[in-house]
Amino acid sequence: MPGLMRDLPARRTTQGQSATTFRAVDKNVWRLLSFLEARPDRQPGSVRTRVVKRRGVALAASVVVFASACAGGTTANVGPQATSTSAPSGPATSNPTGTTVVSHPAGSLQGLAEPSGVLIGTAVDSAALIAEVPYRDTLAKDFGIVTPENDMKWGLIHPERDRYDFAKADQIVDFAQAHGQQVHGHNLAWHNQNPDWLEHGTFTRDELIQILHDHISTVVGHFKGRIAMWDVVNEAIESDGSLRQTVWSKGIGPDYLELAFTFAHDADPTAKLYYNDYALELGGPKTEAVYNIVRDLKNKGVPIDGVGFQTHLVNQVSPRAANFAPILQRFVDLGLDVAITEFDDAIKLTAGTTAAADLEQQAVTYREFVHACLTQVRCRSFTMWGFTDQHSWIPSILPGLGAGLPLDKNYQPKPAYQAMVDELRSTAPATPKR
Ligand code: GLA
Repeated sequence: MPGLMRDLPARRTTQGQSATTFRAVDKNVWRLLSFLEARPDRQPGSVRTRVVKRRGVALAASVVVFASACAGGTTANVGPQATSTSAPSGPATSNPTGTTVVSHPAGSLQGLAEPSGVLIGTAVDSAALIAEVPYRDTLAKDFGIVTPENDMKWGLIHPERDRYDFAKADQIVDFAQAHGQQVHGHNLAWHNQNPDWLEHGTFTRDELIQILHDHISTVVGHFKGRIAMWDVVNEAIESDGSLRQTVWSKGIGPDYLELAFTFAHDADPTAKLYYNDYALELGGPKTEAVYNIVRDLKNKGVPIDGVGFQTHLVNQVSPRAANFAPILQRFVDLGLDVAITEFDDAIKLTAGTTAAADLEQQAVTYREFVHACLTQVRCRSFTMWGFTDQHSWIPSILPGLGAGLPLDKNYQPKPAYQAMVDELRSTAPATPKR
């Protein structure tokens, strides 16, 4: 079984925060990718160029949405191409919290998942949400829960020590509420995409605890009652099972985890609080270390509710789902919920295109992992890290790989989408959650 390994050199973004280039996914993929390492677009700066370009589009679109909001418009239906209703869903009513209750269309992913109680989710790119009608329409139709892809990360939501910026995250939460979707907050303590002031500041342990407390109570408090589940700590463990050396673990010590969960619970006692990480589907030392940590937290009475399995896969390389069900069950046996939080299945591209066999294998993989969630009574959501290959982190960070999502760049369903539909049609009605 391949051990997952990431090499994470810092890069800079236009926001000035530290971010991360994901250079390798696992040892087998490393081999698969070795031919790419010599390519010019792997050189420093190239990823940045693409990020700068995307940020430029995002900025332009933000100006449009901001102007519209000032003019009294809503954020759900604005932007240069905003001609659609962006709500192809069923009848809407409202509930006491102000969230619009919308039933998803019967044949949509969320509509098909409804009998099971599983939420089908996606990460949301705020620039695409503003700028693209098909993006909004698909988002509204197919999904019951959304995760802001970047806009709740420290670098964007807390760019300066005394300044928070909730604008883009608010847009996503507003859209979700208007379309009967739940929100998965992401994230409250991580080692990537942190602002410079945090990563390069000099703080005593007590100051850092205060900073963590103030951030979590401000951010979780801002969204109180509107976020169903939070990724409280993201990726705290290395592939070998050791505690990752981060601003938090170095400055506070291992107990930053329990502090973070406690601060989050104090700020919103109704939100479900998750530990989230990649490669847990592999089993092995990392999965064991995370198991031990969440077991100990739970035994100490720390308010942790679940474990998020990111599940970033590489087609034809990553393990199949056969071993996944028992891994999920072990965590559930601790009294925790589980969720698939960032699913995608990257395909090796040949001259930018995908082989039919790879798409078929990808469809099988999607179906197997959806099945694993549907048939685990405490698996709450199956969230993908996006839904269209037009907007995916994979090609810009792992050149030569891509096409990891169920819709192609033109929003057309790939075999993976149909496989999810087939799986939801056949299994969801038979597996209602408690
Ligand atoms: C991790 C993070 C996500 C996202 C993905 C892909 O899994 O949790 O926020 O950055 O990597 O880029």
